[in-house]
Amino acid sequence: MKFHVLTLFPEMICQGLGTGVIGRALNKNLIALHAVNIRDYTLEKHGKVDDYPYGGGAGMLIQAQPVYDAHRAVCGGRPVRTVYVTPQGRPFDQRLARELAREEELVLLCGHYEGIDERVLEEVVTDRVSIGDYILTGGELAAMVIIDAVARLVPGVLGNETSAQEESFDNDLLEYPQYTRPEVWRDKAVPQVLLSGDHNRIAGWRLEQSLQRTRSVRPQLYERYRQRQSLAKRLSREKRSNIHMMESLARGLGEILYENGDTAAVYLPESRICMACAADGAGGRAILDRMPREAELVVVHQEGLKQLLEETGFQALFSCRQFLYTQRKTLPVRHKDIRLLGMESFAYLCARYEMDGPEYVRERLTSGAVYGAFVEGELAGFIGTHREGSMGMLYVDEAYRRQGLAASLEAYLVNRTLERGFTPYVQVKPDNLPSLQLQEKLGFYQAGPLYWWMERHS
Ligand code: ADE
Repeated sequence: MKFHVLTLFPEMICQGLGTGVIGRALNKNLIALHAVNIRDYTLEKHGKVDDYPYGGGAGMLIQAQPVYDAHRAVCGGRPVRTVYVTPQGRPFDQRLARELAREEELVLLCGHYEGIDERVLEEVVTDRVSIGDYILTGGELAAMVIIDAVARLVPGVLGNETSAQEESFDNDLLEYPQYTRPEVWRDKAVPQVLLSGDHNRIAGWRLEQSLQRTRSVRPQLYERYRQRQSLAKRLSREKRSNIHMMESLARGLGEILYENGDTAAVYLPESRICMACAADGAGGRAILDRMPREAELVVVHQEGLKQLLEETGFQALFSCRQFLYTQRKTLPVRHKDIRLLGMESFAYLCARYEMDGPEYVRERLTSGAVYGAFVEGELAGFIGTHREGSMGMLYVDEAYRRQGLAASLEAYLVNRTLERGFTPYVQVKPDNLPSLQLQEKLGFYQAGPLYWWMERHS
């Protein structure tokens, strides 16, 4: 991924990002940083880039022309996502970081003085982003914050295979306190429970500490956590049927749209998917009333809700069966050479996985969600986690079939999913016999109903 920063202080950007994890990623060419001095593009004498605001007021503004020309020089007419960092922007958070990390290139525009002439912002900027409700002297620190948070999501930057994919921002809870040696420091002892070796007790203590901290420091975050927990508990009464909704909540991908008794809807803003179940027609209508206009797909598993959606502008795209892996123990993986795939495998995947199109493949690869099986150094098949959390995209090249590669790929992804503390699940089309058999072989449970993926058509 390449970051271009348009700034009056390029050296500040290069120095600020040149060390630590990001510096290492730059040296390894996992990411690239291109700091551009806006002043180099002024047509005025003495490098002047600013002027007084029309209508009066304190301070100076950066003029449109040098910003426009610097942007043109960087993008050369290509449509590159361009973020203007400003206190007037959309708040930056982990979700936006994940979204930006899917871009191949990103321009960050840093303001100074009182800001930038609005006309050039209208021409070149796609997003206005603030890093918090306070005013900095310029946009450089904000741009560096964004680059740091986005770059660490680029596969390989954190230096481990598991990658930062699907980090849930810790389920809305703040981190618990941590301790290292010595056991006693200035008469303060490490909490006894951490020395007990009892992993369940330690996990319980940590959760309690996180809850206390969050409740006192971030009451709104705590409330959101509580609501999620309460819905998760209710959904767990029919865990097999509801695992798709439970997992989207647990992985921080979905937010609660509606909840009332046995009626519930979860919305995944990044993928524009809504997952819903309704006790009756009134519940279904309550969900429809709250469904965002931009929701493109709805996943349902009740005939009545499916019909209601069909009457209100949706049509069924396909149906599938749902299977989940309820055990905690990892599965044996016979095939040894399975690795995380990156964009170098884009063409290979596009030629074999056509269902969701090349943009989807790019997004999954850059999110670190796809693993490949290699035979004598050659890619022979792959599997991935879909953006809403289910495992899928499974494919093995004809020449390598009937050797257990599919089972190894799926077992491998089950193990990675368990490592992250999630429940592996898959959705399989009813006519895909080999896949149905594979789920049984690996010890998955089938959930009762059929699941319909409904698409908005009006
Ligand atoms: N520029 C100045 N203050 C800022 C902030 N809080 N966020 C983003 N850009 C800024």
